Amino acid sequence: MIQKSTLVDWITLYAQEISANKDELTALDAAIGDADHGINMDRGFTEVMQRIPSLQEQDIGSLFKGIGMTLLSKVGGASGPLYGTLFLRMGMAASGKEALSLAEFVTELSAGVDGIRQRGSARSGDKTMLDVLAPAVAALQEAADSGLDACQALEVAAVAAAAGMKATIPMQASRGRASYLGPRSIGHQDPGATSAWLLIKAAAGAMCRAR
Ligand SMILES: Nc1ncnc2c1ncn2[C@@H]1O[C@H](COP(=O)(O)OP(=O)(O)OP(=O)(O)O)[C@@H](O)[C@H]1O
Ligand SMILES: [Mg+2]
Repeated sequence: MIQKSTLVDWITLYAQEISANKDELTALDAAIGDADHGINMDRGFTEVMQRIPSLQEQDIGSLFKGIGMTLLSKVGGASGPLYGTLFLRMGMAASGKEALSLAEFVTELSAGVDGIRQRGSARSGDKTMLDVLAPAVAALQEAADSGLDACQALEVAAVAAAAGMKATIPMQASRGRASYLGPRSIGHQDPGATSAWLLIKAAAGAMCRAR
């Protein structure tokens, strides 16, 4: 089972990754957006970390919902509502739980990614965070179905996430601010895809540490 403390570790590791990669995320957004992605995400996850001591007293559903609400209110632009939706949806599916099976985690993450898809209307190939999250969830589902444990399955998902991130480089953006550049968006890695890869990588880190 994946304990609540492991999920708190995931968020903590992710907040650290965002802080460590803040300038890189902002530089990626400077190339095809408005140079605020690292700043937006770091502001949001700094606030999330301040709320973690009280959120972790509650069930996993409330923990995720609290994270989602914080991101909705603190992170501006496109990424705040989108990552906020991911955690709100995960929270709905985890209501009342203190631990999750890997299968439950996959179902919840998948529901969260569906939420991003509905909210942002992006499809695969549009050069967004979905180009990482969709293949990562598919790989995770397959790995979990084949009997791998949470650490192994998230490591497989992280490999798929990294490939998805690199695959955004030759894409032309058709969602968000980067789409205004048209063909000039080609040749740059998408900032949201990069923060999404860090999210999956942090999940693998937390699951493997808990093994
Ligand atoms: N409709 C969408 N669906 C999914 N992801 C999106 C969408 N629009 C933007 N994104 C993601 O959000 C990232 C930009 O996030 P950022 O925090 O910089 O917000 P922003 O500056 O308001 O966004 P944007 O530059 O898209 O207007 C993009 O790199 C992309 O991955
Ligand atoms: Mg931006």
